Amino acid sequence: MVTTRVLVAYATRNRATAGIAERIGADLISAGLDVQVAPAKAVHTVRGYDACVLGSAIYAGRWEHDAREFADRFGDDLAGHPVWVFSSGPLDRSAEERDIPPVDTARAAAEKVHARGHRTFGGRLREDARGFFGLARRMGRRGAADYRDEQAIDSWAHELARELGADGSPTDGSPTGRPPSGEPSS
Ligand SMILES: Cc1cc2nc3c(=O)[nH]c(=O)nc-3n(C[C@H](O)[C@H](O)[C@H](O)COP(=O)(O)O)c2cc1C
Repeated sequence: MVTTRVLVAYATRNRATAGIAERIGADLISAGLDVQVAPAKAVHTVRGYDACVLGSAIYAGRWEHDAREFADRFGDDLAGHPVWVFSSGPLDRSAEERDIPPVDTARAAAEKVHARGHRTFGGRLREDARGFFGLARRMGRRGAADYRDEQAIDSWAHELARELGADGSPTDGSPTGRPPSGEPSS
């Protein structure tokens, strides 16, 4: 049996999106797929992959440069392969309550990679995030907050695995055994 090889590429500033990408990767591995998770900037070729997931944090209403550039670099190579994109952004529960459409730059990138679908997940704000104090003042926030929704991430990853024909179905809700922290593992 040939195992489907999936690349999960992400663009992040403060690792919240990295944590989501790593969780998606772990879910896909649990479903029996062969997965590499990597920063979009570090990817030099998509040859050898059968499918791809591309994610980016949203800052000031835009996808990160590395994710946009990934779509520019590999859009043609990914034509004909299943691709999905996700955004990490809202610092509230809105992404759990409704489907949040892609920002313009995400939509443009999704078109370039011929994405089958887009999903917005809640984000995380760290105390030391760049621009945090200005944003916090504007949003009336005092502290850090993590709105990443593990269940939503897992269930989206399982949908992707099903579309890729993977037969494994991890359903215990914690395939990684840890939250999508995005912290470098020690
Ligand atoms: C200065 C600043 C601007 C932001 N702008 C947006 C925005 O326009 N839309 C949005 O949904 N989230 C916005 N966010 C929230 C981030 O997208 C969220 O914290 C994300 O999870 C960060 O991902 P990262 O840790 O991978 O960089 C902003 C956060 C900061 C600190």
